[in-house]
Amino acid sequence: MTGMRSCSRRQFHGLVLAGAGFAVLGCNQGAAPDGTVAAAMGRVTLPFAMFPKLGAVGGSVVVDVTGEFPIVVVRTSDTAATALSATCTHAACLVDYAAAANDLHCPCHDANFALDGSVKNGPTIIPLPVYPAQVGADAIVVNLT
Ligand code: FES
Repeated sequence: MTGMRSCSRRQFHGLVLAGAGFAVLGCNQGAAPDGTVAAAMGRVTLPFAMFPKLGAVGGSVVVDVTGEFPIVVVRTSDTAATALSATCTHAACLVDYAAAANDLHCPCHDANFALDGSVKNGPTIIPLPVYPAQVGADAIVVNLT
């Protein structure tokens, strides 16, 4: 399903700084977020009770972070997770995890990113920012600072 959302000021500025001045064209499409959370001291806590898909290896969510930017989090093992900006660096659609290819896919113009943020295929050449993520007993904590 395609999510309908607008660009946050931070998304827009980030893309302009990245040289993607045409970014406003894609801010209303892409993956639908699985939920919204607030950051505290630059950290985002994603409880398994709220995001049960993260409780199992291979699970993933796209989350809107209030006052920040959307992130995509993938549970990669029992003890590890990967967190990246979910805003495609081409024109700001939301990317989502594609389990079959084990990568991040943008549905707007078919860009694919590896889980380390690197571009597998364009149209963009700009990688996705990656953020440290720790798997705890009840939640995954992502550090956005
Ligand atoms: S917005 Fe064009 S590939 Fe993602």
